[in-house]
Amino acid sequence: MNSFIDYLLRIRLPILVFVAIVSFAVTYYVARAERDGIGYTPEQPINFSHKLHAGDMNIDCQYCHTGVEKERFATVPAASTCMNCHSLARTDRPEIKKLIQYYESGTPIPWKRIHRVPEYAYFNHSVHVGKGIDCASCHGDVRNMEKIGQVNSFTMGACLDCHRNPEVKVPYVANIKKGPEYCWACHR
Ligand code: HEC
Ligand code: HEC
Ligand code: HEC
Ligand code: HEC
Ligand code: HEC
Repeated sequence: MNSFIDYLLRIRLPILVFVAIVSFAVTYYVARAERDGIGYTPEQPINFSHKLHAGDMNIDCQYCHTGVEKERFATVPAASTCMNCHSLARTDRPEIKKLIQYYESGTPIPWKRIHRVPEYAYFNHSVHVGKGIDCASCHGDVRNMEKIGQVNSFTMGACLDCHRNPEVKVPYVANIKKGPEYCWACHR
């Protein structure tokens, strides 16, 4: 019996501990990557293309995301914004028929939210956009996205990475100041 415990301690136990640590680490990092959301590109209720509207047709981001310059949230446009054009454009198409149905029934289009920081973290669009940081630095090349998804990390590490080295992350803004690193800037 004693020699069995000896054996367990000397050979088996280190292996078991090693396996436990590795599987814990793997689970931790997989869960972390999932929560971070990189690659999340959900099916949307209407097949809306940023490439077509913001790219090919060159409609300004702020025509639809009206809050970015002045408010915390960028906001997603109401169906009525789409209807400025689609009361006439392509009304025969199935995707536009869906749009018209939402509009006429007064039902908000149930777009799936893609980018999100947790409740306990504070992010404000107007501060960043107002300093001249463009959408692409955080959201990627949206003008070329047929279907929009998350391409960058939105973790605390990613926020701090830019706050510490803005001259590297946003070299196109002259004399940019560093962002805050003290906890209550983002955890209020
Ligand atoms: C014609 C209106 C329109 C224009 C122009 C437009 N968007 Fe959008 N945007 C939308 C709609 C509608 C959604 C929600 C549906 C979706 O995710 O595809 C959206 C979603 C997004 C999202 C994801 C929101 C989330 O849930 O996290 C980002 C980021 C975004 N747009 C950035 C941009 C950028 C950057 C531009 C300019 C290059 C732009 N948009 C131009 C209408 C527009
Ligand atoms: C400034 C005008 C304008 C606005 C605003 C606009 N669209 Fe469009 N949209 C167009 C035009 C024009 C086309 C057709 C382009 C083409 O086929 O070359 C189009 C095409 C589309 C198509 C593809 C239709 C098909 O199957 O051929 C969808 C879907 C669509 N828009 C949805 C939306 C939604 C949803 C919104 C609001 C978030 C919106 N559009 C806002 C002008 C606009
Ligand atoms: C410094 C990084 C950064 C920049 C620059 C930025 N965004 Fe965002 N965006 C975020 C973050 C972080 C979120 C998630 C915010 C949250 O959960 O409160 C987000 C969320 C969004 C959303 C989802 C809805 C909302 O209001 O939160 C849209 C739409 C959006 N951004 C559009 C834009 C557009 C358009 C621009 C450029 C004019 C832009 N963003 C510039 C980081 C950025
Ligand atoms: C691409 C660079 C970049 C990214 C990414 C970024 N920031 Fe910033 N942020 C800045 C810069 C630069 C400033 C300082 C602007 C100034 O004061 O001139 C700033 C300022 C701030 C401020 C201070 C606002 C105020 O009221 O003074 C907060 C809060 C903040 N960021 C939160 C966040 C959070 C949360 C994230 C991540 C989800 C984030 N930022 C991601 C560049 C960035
Ligand atoms: C620039 C903004 C910013 C600053 C400054 C910041 N945080 Fe965060 N923090 C975030 C964001 C965004 C998240 C949520 C995303 C994530 O989990 O990485 C977060 C998440 C966290 C979490 C939860 C992490 C987890 O794994 O669940 C803790 C704890 C935390 N922060 C503590 C701190 C402390 C302590 C400080 C000061 C030393 C600090 N933060 C400074 C933006 C910030």
